[in-house]
Amino acid sequence: MRLAACLCFLWLPCLLSVTLAAVDVCYTKPKSLHLEPMCVHRSPILHSDVLEADKTPENIPEGTNPRVWELSKANSRFALRFYKHMVKTRSPETNIFMSPLSISTAFAMTKLGACNNTLEQLMDVFEFNTIKEKTSDQVHYFFAKLNCRLYRRKDQSIELVSANRLFGEKSFVFNETFQNISEVVYGAKLMPLNFKEKPELSRQIINEWISNKTKNKIQETLPENAIDSSAVLVLVNTIYFKGQWSSKFNKEHVFKDDFSLGASKTCPVSMMYQENEFRYGKFKADNVQVLELPYKGEEMSMVLILPFRKTPLSEIENNLQLKKLTGWLDSLRPTTVSIQIPRFHIEDKFSLKEKLEALGLKDLFDPSQANLPGIGTEEGNNLYISEAYHKAFLEVNEEGSEAAAATAVVAYGRSINFSREEFIADRPFLLLIRAISTNTFIFTGRVSDPCDST
Ligand SMILES: *[C@@H]1O[C@H](CO)[C@@H](O)[C@H](O)[C@H]1NC(C)=O
Ligand SMILES: *[C@@H]1O[C@H](CO)[C@@H](O)[C@H](O)[C@H]1NC(C)=O
Ligand SMILES: *[C@@H]1O[C@H](CO)[C@@H](O)[C@H](O)[C@H]1NC(C)=O
Ligand SMILES: *[C@@H]1O[C@H](CO)[C@@H](O)[C@H](O)[C@H]1NC(C)=O
Ligand SMILES: *[C@@H]1O[C@H](CO)[C@@H](O)[C@H](O)[C@H]1NC(C)=O
Repeated sequence: MRLAACLCFLWLPCLLSVTLAAVDVCYTKPKSLHLEPMCVHRSPILHSDVLEADKTPENIPEGTNPRVWELSKANSRFALRFYKHMVKTRSPETNIFMSPLSISTAFAMTKLGACNNTLEQLMDVFEFNTIKEKTSDQVHYFFAKLNCRLYRRKDQSIELVSANRLFGEKSFVFNETFQNISEVVYGAKLMPLNFKEKPELSRQIINEWISNKTKNKIQETLPENAIDSSAVLVLVNTIYFKGQWSSKFNKEHVFKDDFSLGASKTCPVSMMYQENEFRYGKFKADNVQVLELPYKGEEMSMVLILPFRKTPLSEIENNLQLKKLTGWLDSLRPTTVSIQIPRFHIEDKFSLKEKLEALGLKDLFDPSQANLPGIGTEEGNNLYISEAYHKAFLEVNEEGSEAAAATAVVAYGRSINFSREEFIADRPFLLLIRAISTNTFIFTGRVSDPCDST
């Protein structure tokens, strides 16, 4: 049963995983796992920033496998790169919310069957080639280890549920080794569907599966007509998160306030207030305040990055680098801060295909170029990924709308100490939800418009 517990994060119906109970990936050495994907890629090139990072010794937390740490960092690199690309495709007034970790995980699964250029591009775009001892097959093992850290938590106060799955046309014969590794390492196997004859039904089955895995919070991930009879393989990943603050906001201190949407536009929000000690930093050179709000259990936190009042968020976004961000996070100090944060609810969905293509993941989606011989059998070697969708949902401290009734007086009446630090998120800010010990960015996003949800 232990494996079933480990696999729940990816594939919830634990009962279905019980047959594999003999293999617990969380307690297994790589050699005994037989992770032998069809192709192995060893990247000869190191990115220059990786070389630079190598010179400064890192404080890898005790008990963390250095390669798992590097994988987490590779995922963060991808996360920022992808986020910056997202920014280009969205207007500044639009919220962004996603789980870069979930995206990396799903494509790592696909990577199990990839060869040649397709494999190389996957290693490159997802930054997996920045991991030392970095043959492509080992990435899977470290992913499994990272997942064990993230999802096999004793503390149940956080809900973090991720569901990944590959859905394939049933007339294809899929490689058994591929299915086995995918299931053992990622908790996800390939579900055959009748795309050819029943594309609409297949779409509904996939959407229902996702809905089932996310407590019905995520529905209709695949839009109408997303699947046609030529679909071969559809890759879906979803993630659902709900956390309780370690230090909760008092409902009675919620007040109506204006949130700045742009230069002259505002909208009403329900602003939560509290004054407490948090890890906090004010970075004058970068024009940002950074605040870390831990969730119950202290294993995960939400980091809020708020530009100074005169600084547009886009300026912060354009200059965002992993090194800078990590620098901020490492410099946060316990500080008594008076904080105001709007209540919000974010839901986001988008197709990954063209965004990843723009980052260099071209062959995988190209019927004439994709090289995924490890997924099918010899006859089925013309596989390619026809689409990839992502949908994420975040609900923070949902206390019910009646809590919005209190007045501003309560919030300000307590504020006698004018020299205390203030963090007032009444304008667009960035957020990320991270697993603290491995510094894994589980979610990234920006809150530009929290108005609808109040
Ligand atoms: C399935 O994939 C493995 C490598 O992971 C390969 O050795 C084997 O030949 C493949 N099987 C078929 C039927 O293609
Ligand atoms: C990979 O490329 C090499 C050289 O171009 C080729 O010989 C080999 O057959 C390719 N492998 C696969 C699995 O397509
Ligand atoms: C895949 O797993 C099943 C069930 O554990 C096993 O019977 C089968 O031999 C495995 N196949 C391969 C190719 O590893
Ligand atoms: C979703 O859950 C319902 C009720 O538990 C079940 O009847 C249905 O078969 C599930 N659908 C999928 C696609 O797993
Ligand atoms: C006021 O806030 C500042 C900054 O947090 C703190 O250093 C100081 O001790 C506080 N003074 C009082 C009287 O609470």
